[in-house]
Amino acid sequence: MKYILFLLLSIPLFADSGFITQSEYAEQLYKNPRGIACGLCHGKNGEGKIIANYTHKKKKKSFVGPKINNIKYTEFYRVFATRSRGMPRYYLTSKEIEALYFYLHKNDAKRQADNL
Ligand code: HEC
Repeated sequence: MKYILFLLLSIPLFADSGFITQSEYAEQLYKNPRGIACGLCHGKNGEGKIIANYTHKKKKKSFVGPKINNIKYTEFYRVFATRSRGMPRYYLTSKEIEALYFYLHKNDAKRQADNL
């Protein structure tokens, strides 16, 4: 009996093909959080984008999703703890917010290297 239990417990350790990496998890969350995808308003990699152009009092205006891949973690986190205009309300856990931040910064080392 003990032996069978050991076998069952050890399966997840070896069947790692069924698990996703942190990077894959973060990407999935960014593309499909519990709510509308971040990229629709902030661009594929958080570079920011114009969501819509409209005219208000005969002036052309744009509704913009700001660039979010260059802000500090504390500022990033704060957005999910407070309400802001335009930004939908998400109910994410700290871990999920961390994963999203990770996703937006996964290429930072490469970007820095390219600037050298
Ligand atoms: C419907 C469009 C929309 C979606 C979807 C959206 N956002 Fe936003 N977001 C905005 C807008 C608009 C602002 C600017 C808010 C303001 O000016 O008050 C914003 C602001 C932010 C900011 C603050 C930027 C700054 O410079 O202060 C962060 C961080 C952010 N969003 C992250 C995210 C993440 C992560 C997701 C996905 C979980 C997401 N947003 C989904 C529209 C969106």
